[in-house]
Amino acid sequence: MKAIISPEPLAISSSRALVDVELPVPVPGPRDVLVEVRAVSVNPADAKVRKRTRPPGSSPVVLGWDAAGVVVRVGNDASRFSVGDEVYFAGDLTRPGANSQFCLVDERIVGPKPKSLDFAEAAAMPLTGLTVYEALFERMHVGRGDASLGKSLLVVGGAGGVGSMAIQVAKTATRATVLATASREESKEWCRKLGADHVLDHRCELPSQLSDLGLSSVDFILCTADTDPYFDLLTTLVAPQGVIAFIVPSTKPVDMAPLHTKSASVVWELMFTRPRFQTSDMAEQGRILEELGRSIDAGHIRTTMRDRRGPISARTLREAHAQIESGTTIGKIVLEGWS
Ligand SMILES: NC(=O)c1ccc[n+]([C@@H]2O[C@H](COP(=O)([O-])OP(=O)(O)OC[C@H]3O[C@@H](n4cnc5c(N)ncnc54)[C@H](OP(=O)(O)O)[C@@H]3O)[C@@H](O)[C@H]2O)c1
Repeated sequence: MKAIISPEPLAISSSRALVDVELPVPVPGPRDVLVEVRAVSVNPADAKVRKRTRPPGSSPVVLGWDAAGVVVRVGNDASRFSVGDEVYFAGDLTRPGANSQFCLVDERIVGPKPKSLDFAEAAAMPLTGLTVYEALFERMHVGRGDASLGKSLLVVGGAGGVGSMAIQVAKTATRATVLATASREESKEWCRKLGADHVLDHRCELPSQLSDLGLSSVDFILCTADTDPYFDLLTTLVAPQGVIAFIVPSTKPVDMAPLHTKSASVVWELMFTRPRFQTSDMAEQGRILEELGRSIDAGHIRTTMRDRRGPISARTLREAHAQIESGTTIGKIVLEGWS
């Protein structure tokens, strides 16, 4: 099968950062499905793993943890899907990714592809969808429906892949007021189109922009940007008994003290935790993808794909990684088809 590998950690400007190769088609383990990959989206995780230092002698890495395709084989103990089913999934960072014509994934973390989306539109959704559902409803416990009436949610980095999903999921599943941040006219417009009630500029002072809206604090904050530059600011903006979710690891010690008087919390979300540790509830990810699919097919959530490219190759993936690394992507970049 065709596959694209990262042979060694290299800057994306190197023509060897990603390379086209032929690999054997993998054989499913007991709970796996083998998926013929039709489309993949590109996430910052791909670039981070590509650049990460590896132990000496380690194998080249197949990246790509966001895909849609068709099931072509099922493992002996797999029962959720049959050959021919159309699926979407983010997968498991500890296994080879989906930048290959065929990819193995544990059936418990796979969802049926939303019927109203084509493969490329669907490939944009799983990784960010899982991140947002887990962050909002499992880590932060934002109330669904009327339970969040009168509450506010701030999405820092509203136009990126995660932010674009967070705005839509929050507007669909909660009654919280949704504030999003963006710094350019086109990214601000994107946040408004996705349903944000208010758009703030993260290049300008956030406290004064909140007070212009009559708010002194925010109940829930989902920070999709780097944690380090935002940690102290967000601990001052969070409301008494509020919750802040970070999705990017901090690289230095953090000061939790300001949260004490407010009984406020900080939570972490990593959507790869469940597959990585094979947690007993890892099938929740399959359930979340089913729920997301129903919301999409009901017309409540639309694809975040904004940039459709192809075919999937080392060259097109290098271009997509370069765009992702610029930190200016709006929505998702998706690659579809094989040459
Ligand atoms: N823990 C997890 O499970 C998980 C899951 C997914 C992603 N992540 C991580 O979360 C981060 C975001 O992922 P993503 O896919 O949303 O990335 P992305 O799509 O590349 O995000 C691009 C967006 O970031 C915004 N941005 C740039 N600098 C910013 C700043 N200083 N403050 C606020 N926003 C800023 C930009 O908005 P403007 O152009 O308007 O400035 C742009 O639209 C990455 O580090 C990724 O690795 C973690």
